[in-house]
Amino acid sequence: MKPYLKVNEWRIIEEGFDAERNEVSESVFSIGNGYMGQRANFEERYGGPSLQGSYMAGVYYPDKTRVGWWKNGYPEYFAKVLNSVNWIGIDVEIDGETLDLSSAAVEDFVRTLDMQEGTLSRSFTAVLSDGKKVRVESLRFVSVPFKEIGAIRYTVTPIGEAAQLKLTPYLDANVVNKDSNYDEKFWDGISQDSGVDYANVEVRTKKLDFRVASHMVYELAASGEADQEFHVEAETHKRDKFAGLTLSLRAEADQSITLYKYVANVTSRDHEPESLAGKAQELAEEALERGFDALLDAQREAWAAKWRDGDISIEGDETAQQAIRFNIFQLHQTYTGEDDRLNIGPKGFTGEKYGGSTYWDTEAYCIPFYLSTADPGVARNLLVYRYKHLEKAKENAAKLGFAKGALYPMVTMNGEECHNEWEITFEEIHRNGAIAYAIYNYVEYTGDSAYLGEYGFEVLAELSRFWEERVNYSERRGAYLILGVTGPNEYENNVNNNWYTNRMAAWTLEYTTEVARKLRSEEPDAFAAVAEKIGLTDAELEKWTDISERMLLAEDPESGVFLQQDGFLDKDILPVAQLDPSHLPLNQKWSWDRILRSCYIKQADVLQGLFFLGDRYDLETKRRNFDFYEPITVHESSLSPCVHSILAGELGYTEKAYEMYLRTSRLDLDNYNNDTEDGCHTTSMAGTWMSVVQGFGGLRVRGGRLVLNPFSPESWTSLSFKVGFRGARLKVTVSGGKTTVENEGAANAALTLYGREIELAAGESVSGERDPQAGAPDEAVRG
Ligand code: BGC
Repeated sequence: MKPYLKVNEWRIIEEGFDAERNEVSESVFSIGNGYMGQRANFEERYGGPSLQGSYMAGVYYPDKTRVGWWKNGYPEYFAKVLNSVNWIGIDVEIDGETLDLSSAAVEDFVRTLDMQEGTLSRSFTAVLSDGKKVRVESLRFVSVPFKEIGAIRYTVTPIGEAAQLKLTPYLDANVVNKDSNYDEKFWDGISQDSGVDYANVEVRTKKLDFRVASHMVYELAASGEADQEFHVEAETHKRDKFAGLTLSLRAEADQSITLYKYVANVTSRDHEPESLAGKAQELAEEALERGFDALLDAQREAWAAKWRDGDISIEGDETAQQAIRFNIFQLHQTYTGEDDRLNIGPKGFTGEKYGGSTYWDTEAYCIPFYLSTADPGVARNLLVYRYKHLEKAKENAAKLGFAKGALYPMVTMNGEECHNEWEITFEEIHRNGAIAYAIYNYVEYTGDSAYLGEYGFEVLAELSRFWEERVNYSERRGAYLILGVTGPNEYENNVNNNWYTNRMAAWTLEYTTEVARKLRSEEPDAFAAVAEKIGLTDAELEKWTDISERMLLAEDPESGVFLQQDGFLDKDILPVAQLDPSHLPLNQKWSWDRILRSCYIKQADVLQGLFFLGDRYDLETKRRNFDFYEPITVHESSLSPCVHSILAGELGYTEKAYEMYLRTSRLDLDNYNNDTEDGCHTTSMAGTWMSVVQGFGGLRVRGGRLVLNPFSPESWTSLSFKVGFRGARLKVTVSGGKTTVENEGAANAALTLYGREIELAAGESVSGERDPQAGAPDEAVRG
């Protein structure tokens, strides 16, 4: 693969305009602030291929399900993150010709995402049809401190000769979702208006009545003498769901005309519908009052604070450095944890695919990032989000015919299932395991066991009820079985006894009974309250223990490998390396039938279980399974390489760990899976973070202690990251085989560094060296 973007530690840079790559760049250069997100579409008109995307968090549309063959149990709709008001638009006309990079010749094009300060900029010279040249420079951001505000500075300079300019800043809600099932338009207009110094639109969704109001104000400046008066004529425009105004003026040769566009976007999720338009106006006017430079300074400060607490610094390898910052940057752009109604969509706000909805990705991949880098309240909110959906998850189980228990949806916006492929909707029930695991992870990490009595235990009990009913006991095999599932590996459907699903189900049942015992003795009132609320009986608890102890967890007696599913070893096993590379990616080259029959694994499956339950398996077991499954894994899910990287690191396969790290961290920057035009793989970015902190850093939490067993790839002269742990703030620096941990926080930290237990007081630091024999973090703990 030829790297396209320039390597720089703080910036993503595209030099030269390549229309073919534009949609990929639109994803990669997206900006967001957790409240809204914006693909890197151009401000001016663009007639070439482009996926327009302006998204408001939590504003979605229940698009009626479309399937060829309806199956009972399918949800009525697929929730879609909505393409919302296009607030960035500025049409540009130079001497009567519309500026459009699909028709003009483009010179010196540079697009830059500045991750340090949270801005997107672009500059280029366009040669128009009559040979006139115009230079354009733009900078925009969505404000972190003023979350409703988007600001743009757009400068046009006619080169060498004067020109008549028309600049038309506008707001346009005549937008569509490319993935709309029935080519419907999702918005109805409420109002639009424009005057010489403002424009606004207000719209509502055709279903669910989400409302969005956008208000725009602007300033115009010309280079040259300080108070130069220049003559501007303004013409207003409005039509259904559109409002804007055209500013006509003459620019002298080489004179720069700068338009500052300030937009406030507000939604009925946060404000009363009647007050929306007024609120948008008030916020936009406040932004104008502050001015572009002040807003930009505030943006820089806000990002500086994020980086101060959460940067990962890698020295000696700029490619890896850029990549990890890009991943962290996108995660911060997607979810801030301030709004407990929100979650983390697999593509964040960088595209439509996956609908911006919640997947198991959050529990399996994202929670660890927030546990270590944010206030514990953020991870707690993500858990409470699922607690609030418990009733819906029970309804979902009932809809599929279960008498009790909860089956969380595979994809959701509001707790209802909205995925409609049977092999996923009905069969990827392993998501229930991840939800239980996240509760465990949170409690282990934070020590907040009160969460269990308050929310966690009730969820665990309902998950366990589901598993109780979903298993069946086989006399023939003397074990409980789980038949007809799809594991994390979506390249096999309707298989029996997927090891991962069975393992996580058994583990959930065991953990639930353990929590029940603990609660009953330590917080009897909390236990009694939950038991009464859900009618929990001792017989149920006993049954759960029985199932967890006798669940089938099949292992090949000869090789000692856990069987991904009952029939896995009947397949032809041929390493990916022996496939003709022209067959990859399989999902674009092979028929589905061929994929299903093959041995190729889309993403970590057995290995996912060994990663989650890493403290229960010794290194040799992990090695056997890794050596067997890794060579047949194609990583066609972005969620795969990170888990492989972590396990490889643990096993001492440092080159593999590094290879997988680059693959996960540069997945979008280098467009590995050839699908970044749909949006960035945001949830897997949390996996990338894990591959550094849990992989190279070897971070685990065991028995209330933070375990570190760091190493760094050979090409890195140093690696440094920060994690929060129970009030302590630890800066971990790995360099030359030595690790130093500084406690910059207020509380002491119970630490295990390379197997040595240390109480690291606030303000103190400690160093240790890796014993090359030590291997895995869990081995170090055991040792
Ligand atoms: C993966 C799922 C994942 C989804 C969203 C799919 O390709 O196989 O595990 O939940 O993407 O990221």
